[in-house]
Amino acid sequence: MKTFELNNKQTIPAVGFGVFMIPNDGPTYDATLTALKAGYRHIDTAAGYCNESDVGKAIKDSGIDRSEIFITSKLWLQDYGYENAKKGIETSMKLLGVDYIDLYLLHQPYGDYLGAWKALEEAYQAGKIKSIGISNITVNLWNKFKDGMTVMPAVNQVEFNPFVQQKELRKVMAENDIRLEAWYPLGHGNKDLLENETIVSLAKKYNKNAGQIILRWIYQEGVISLPKSTNEERMKGNIDIFDFELTDEEMKEMQALDTNKPSHNPEDPANETRLMGLKIHD
Ligand code: A2P
Repeated sequence: MKTFELNNKQTIPAVGFGVFMIPNDGPTYDATLTALKAGYRHIDTAAGYCNESDVGKAIKDSGIDRSEIFITSKLWLQDYGYENAKKGIETSMKLLGVDYIDLYLLHQPYGDYLGAWKALEEAYQAGKIKSIGISNITVNLWNKFKDGMTVMPAVNQVEFNPFVQQKELRKVMAENDIRLEAWYPLGHGNKDLLENETIVSLAKKYNKNAGQIILRWIYQEGVISLPKSTNEERMKGNIDIFDFELTDEEMKEMQALDTNKPSHNPEDPANETRLMGLKIHD
């Protein structure tokens, strides 16, 4: 598995397995174990997915050394604010059954954000979290929060795929040496994307599937991708992207597919109201 280096010199596997919306108590356990057997060494979960315990069990049962697996989790809004966040970090570590987390993010940009960030910074300084980062942060939100941060986030995890290229955000993140991570890298299975003419013709040329072309393009863009699949063959295929290379011309063809219309707008007050109301514990 190829890796990228983060701004604090930590390395991160370039492709991770995302477990968003996979239920706990079985399905996440099975999917994570299958992914680890297929060669994934980077699992992306979140307190808000309510499946950290299955991820932790699968990691233990895989028999793979903890040091070889990169675990990302995220703090949910209900646990924002400095004191709550300290407890939230401990809860994630307990559910995952680990004594450190590789990367921990603030999942959504609402509530007492900077109070929570301070708790992440302290856990980072204490070595409980190896890297800390942000998620769903637009340029406007970055400008709102950046001055309240002492430790520079290592990553910003946002919606990113050939139709949603976040070009302005990428520029601002690059200026700050914050690496992008892609959620919905395959457009959440969007047929228009997976059947796009440019992508399908590249798939034919390289004898790969459309998903692999997209994930290879994301890799060559320097972005970490978190594809999700419940199908073992596709799961394996999605990390089998390191034996070919898109040309500069092909990278440009892919860059031209951008429609700049994310499915999720973090600045929409309706999203703030909806997500702030989502409770994951009493
Ligand atoms: P499946 O679970 O049947 O493989 P995203 O990661 O952007 O959220 O996309 C996930 C969706 O894309 C799932 O519906 C998944 O279906 C599908 N998918 C995953 N890998 C591929 C692939 N290589 N080609 C086509 N579809 C894929």
